[in-house]
Amino acid sequence: MRRLDVLKSQLVAGDPDAQKEALMLSRKLTLTLNEPANTAVEIAFSVKYNVSQRFIPISAKITVTSKNGPITATELAALSGAEELLIVRVLRLLAASGVLNEVDEKTWTFTPVRQAMATPDIAAGHRMIFELILQAAWEAPQYLRETNYKCPENRTDGLVQYAFQTKLETFKLLISKPALRKDFDAFMGNTMGARNYWILDDVSPGSESPVLIDVGAGKGHDLIALNAKFPGHKSVLQDLQPVIDNVHDLDGGIETMASFPALAIYHIEFELISLSLSHFTPGARVYFYHHILHDWSDYICLEILSGLRSAMKPGYSLLLLHEMIIPEKGASDFHAMLDLTMMAFNSGMERTGRQFRTLLDAAGFEVVNIWAPEGARDADGIEEAMVKFDGVL
Ligand SMILES: C[S@@+](CC[C@H](N)C(=O)[O-])C[C@H]1O[C@@H](n2cnc3c(N)ncnc32)[C@H](O)[C@@H]1O
Repeated sequence: MRRLDVLKSQLVAGDPDAQKEALMLSRKLTLTLNEPANTAVEIAFSVKYNVSQRFIPISAKITVTSKNGPITATELAALSGAEELLIVRVLRLLAASGVLNEVDEKTWTFTPVRQAMATPDIAAGHRMIFELILQAAWEAPQYLRETNYKCPENRTDGLVQYAFQTKLETFKLLISKPALRKDFDAFMGNTMGARNYWILDDVSPGSESPVLIDVGAGKGHDLIALNAKFPGHKSVLQDLQPVIDNVHDLDGGIETMASFPALAIYHIEFELISLSLSHFTPGARVYFYHHILHDWSDYICLEILSGLRSAMKPGYSLLLLHEMIIPEKGASDFHAMLDLTMMAFNSGMERTGRQFRTLLDAAGFEVVNIWAPEGARDADGIEEAMVKFDGVL
């Protein structure tokens, strides 16, 4: 700040060097003002850093050394096996962006952002976005030209399918690529950086039925957090069988389930999900969908919600959508970036409050409340909905 103050008069005089320095300082100031984990996740979505990082296998090695002092290009070359010149050229970009501190010639120290980037789950996100989302994004200009510049909607004909030349829907493609699937699962629960995640604070134990079913729960991070805060409730982790197979060390109260009518559309063609719905328990108190609807286009969300509606007990069961709610005007770049990421990933979409209301209304739900994000305005909010009492039930 002090240096920026000193530069003020030079800036007014239009000094280009002062301008350059001020720009660099302001970038650094932005990094300092943001939560390190937020910046780390934002960088995962940012092409140049992600691409350049993939040039050399240094991330894991740097984490292993957990070195706090300066590290030189020679040391990094020894750790990674990469050519020293290559390291210098790549780290130059990270230093210029303020992710590393260039403390001397060919010598760097790590910033908190770099450390957050090296945490295993965020590092997994960097790899997954590079290998899946960016590959799909590269093909977007050609794909969109061929599809007359319309938002992709079809789950077997989207950007991922175009890039990977497959008709497998994205989650099925992921299952056929175990390393990528592992990275995807690890990143879930971390995609929002340090932005707040909601934890329910008002659940009362049901009778026979579970209190909460987490649909598409991934590795169960939300249920584990919920149980830690409100122990003793019966909850169900629902996801694809191959995902559940990798879930270990769940708390006692959490059951797993690999079949669910709310995602019944897949039962037709997704052989990995049992066709039988016999072990499904309807009438839970809460059906929790965290980052599920954003994976899908509207017509698929309608099918998912219609399946769910028939499982819910009117007047009792609650639907909680834990999703980013894009403002109708003034979206942040994180909002916009995730929206396009969802388009590339699975023909999905981040939605505004109005879009959610329209979708829920069309599926026969009444919105009870919309809980705005706490803290960062582009954190997730919660849409709370119940089945409509309209004589149709
Ligand atoms: C974007 S992730 C969200 C994970 C977690 N809820 C979170 O917010 O971190 C979507 C999840 O939906 C699961 N999923 C996709 N298709 C599914 C299906 N047909 N049945 C059940 N789960 C499915 C995926 O395996 C994945 O874990």
